[in-house]
Amino acid sequence: MKVLAFNSSARTGDVSKTEIVLDYLVQGMREAGAEVEVIELRKKKIRYCIGCFTCWTKTPGICIHKDDMTKEILPKYLENDLVILATPLFHYTVNAVMKTFIERTLPIALPFFEKRDGVTAHPYRHKVPPIVFISVAGFPEESVFDALKFYVNFLFHEQLLAEIYRTSSEMISKSSTGKKVSDIREALIQGGRELVQSMKISQETMTRIKKPITNFEEMAPLGNLMWQTCINEGVTMGDAQKSGLIPRPDSIETFLILMKFAFKANKARDARFTIQFNFSGQVAGECYFVIENGRFKTGLGKSSNPDLVIESPFEVWMDIMTKKADGQKMFMEKKYTTQGDISILIRMGEFFGN
Ligand SMILES: Cc1cc2nc3c(=O)[nH]c(=O)nc-3n(C[C@H](O)[C@H](O)[C@H](O)COP(=O)(O)O)c2cc1C
Repeated sequence: MKVLAFNSSARTGDVSKTEIVLDYLVQGMREAGAEVEVIELRKKKIRYCIGCFTCWTKTPGICIHKDDMTKEILPKYLENDLVILATPLFHYTVNAVMKTFIERTLPIALPFFEKRDGVTAHPYRHKVPPIVFISVAGFPEESVFDALKFYVNFLFHEQLLAEIYRTSSEMISKSSTGKKVSDIREALIQGGRELVQSMKISQETMTRIKKPITNFEEMAPLGNLMWQTCINEGVTMGDAQKSGLIPRPDSIETFLILMKFAFKANKARDARFTIQFNFSGQVAGECYFVIENGRFKTGLGKSSNPDLVIESPFEVWMDIMTKKADGQKMFMEKKYTTQGDISILIRMGEFFGN
């Protein structure tokens, strides 16, 4: 099977979630024996359609522009058994690069009018390959894709073989070891294999690909914290990801959410302890977390029987957590104090990632 994939993301590498999702699908397709070429549209010269209809009359099937779309992309598009279109969701629809590309496929249509599924349409000039459509979006609800789904189905009709819509895209990275992201990765690779083997993605695999990673209640406090940290540090989100910048909690609630997010369940399978935090200063209050056989629970107030109690000004602990201050040095300088099993403190780095 010959497959041609178009990626319209402006970004690349681990920051491009379109690229990550596409890469895994392509990996599965190659494993199943397909020959896959990926075209990164951002690297191509594709001018806007100027609506002259030259491609419909004067030079049938050939666009007036002599750019990469005319010379390279459109001829290739028609040669393949399957085409993948992958776009980030921008303002609830395809991004401008993908839209420009789609408009420039006008030469493959004929000018004549026909009725298709009860509505006016143009027939194709050529046999067109089936399409797998991929989009990724930052928001957590699947409904963020509603407008795009409508458009994609209206545009591609029966040409559409599969649609992959991945929410909470910014929580996906190739280096992520979390169970949810790992399962999505496996499901995408499996989806690629299935497409080659049976020209469809099974319902079971699709459910795994689309499985929610988070919800608004969980994502918003963490996301807002990350944006605020970027604003405070004067860095972009991309810089923050590359440098492993840790969002700085501004309340006990956000501190607990962050700890929950950073918790590495697989490293804490045999651990069993409770840590109590008594914070002072601008953000004063008490909270605790319990780690028990790979599970992580948090609570506000006092726990009944903590193994370790940490007394610290909130700002000092946040400096340590965000790696602005050295925990050992701060301890020696008595900026915070502990009671109980101090070995837990030394092992904290094992149980929590960035
Ligand atoms: C201009 C712009 C518009 C966006 N619009 C939306 C949107 O409507 N809904 C959404 O959930 N995410 C939106 N996002 C977030 C992107 O969909 C998300 O960051 C995605 O991962 C981008 O793809 P990339 O990682 O390949 O660059 C937008 C991002 C940008 C830059």
